[in-house]
Amino acid sequence: MNKYECYLTCPRGLENILSQEISEIINKKNIIDNGGVKFNGTKEDIYKLNYHSRVGMNLLIKLFDGNANNIDELYQLIYQYKWEMLIPTNKTFSIRTKINSKIIPKQNFTTLKIKDAIVDKIQKQMGSRPSIDKKSPHFYITVYIKNNKISIFINSSGKPLFMRGYRTKIHKAAINESLASGILKSTNWLKENILYDPMCGSGTFLLEAAMQIFNMPAGIVRKQYAFFNFSDFDNNLWELIRKEGMDNINYNKAILQGSDIIEKNIELCIESAKKLGIEKYIKFTRSDFRDISPNKNKGTVLINPPYGHRIGEIEKLQSLYKDYGDHIKNNFSGFDGYIFTGNLELLKYVGLRTKRKIILKNGKIDCRLAFYPLKKGKY
Ligand SMILES: C[S@@+](CC[C@H](N)C(=O)[O-])C[C@H]1O[C@@H](n2cnc3c(N)ncnc32)[C@H](O)[C@@H]1O
Repeated sequence: MNKYECYLTCPRGLENILSQEISEIINKKNIIDNGGVKFNGTKEDIYKLNYHSRVGMNLLIKLFDGNANNIDELYQLIYQYKWEMLIPTNKTFSIRTKINSKIIPKQNFTTLKIKDAIVDKIQKQMGSRPSIDKKSPHFYITVYIKNNKISIFINSSGKPLFMRGYRTKIHKAAINESLASGILKSTNWLKENILYDPMCGSGTFLLEAAMQIFNMPAGIVRKQYAFFNFSDFDNNLWELIRKEGMDNINYNKAILQGSDIIEKNIELCIESAKKLGIEKYIKFTRSDFRDISPNKNKGTVLINPPYGHRIGEIEKLQSLYKDYGDHIKNNFSGFDGYIFTGNLELLKYVGLRTKRKIILKNGKIDCRLAFYPLKKGKY
């Protein structure tokens, strides 16, 4: 069986968790890198990971490596590949470049040159050429350039895997699904205990938690993967993997509760839960967190509060963080408290002793997942 050199990207800081997840899904050795994990996989592994990975974002398959010391050498390197065997002339493609090099110029010009090389080669061999579609292409080419080392990949996922397909509308400060799932896996949350998110926004933590509890494939409602367009796409194999994933769903006991001060957000949560068919398993209510107290004495309370880069203003947020710290201290004793934020200054206003802080990135924003064990009378 053919083996492919693969690279699954993930939010920075979640590489170890992704590595563990890859071992669980395909039982293959893998190598942790910055921002992703490398492994050798079969077609079956590629389909399975695209369908099941909760933390992975783009599953890239290596096409070839090479060296280029200037832009003309880069053109030649790209041109020599049999692109006509990969991209049919009536299909579309996009190119994403990541450049960290003193000798190869930054993005736009280089991307254009790579595009020219691919298109020129196909035109020469086939007499016509595929077109570029930046939004929804059939084929996604990714090129990494580090100094004079060039690696060319095809992205088997297409749109990133955090686009699960369960959102009907986007909450403007929603956390991405891969990051949310990885955060859950970074906490001490036990699936049989309550998980509470009192600032749930569009409900990402709770929806991802439910999918984890029920062993639902991450891509259960996703309609499209780029590998569907590959010439060797094996529909029977894909259907088998999908069926196996569906057969393994188990509606175990779940105690999941979320609330948000904005009614519209609660509507979003319920719409997404309905899309996944799990609305009866998660309790969503409209409420200020100050009015929430659980009727349990252990569990996990996890929030991703507003943090100023996107919504809210700093002074208001300082008192929000302070009030939240006071509130969970007084109402959630016995719980494990977690706050995920991109504003490290605001964390200081929580006023609780942090047991651990995990460094994570949300896109380019430096974030922390802070852990507060909430014990009675120990502050
Ligand atoms: C960064 S967003 C959370 C996004 C969420 N993690 C998601 O993935 O959609 C912060 C949320 O806190 C909510 N919020 C702000 N103040 C609140 C309060 N006093 N009580 C409850 N929710 C509040 C906002 O309405 C917003 O939806």
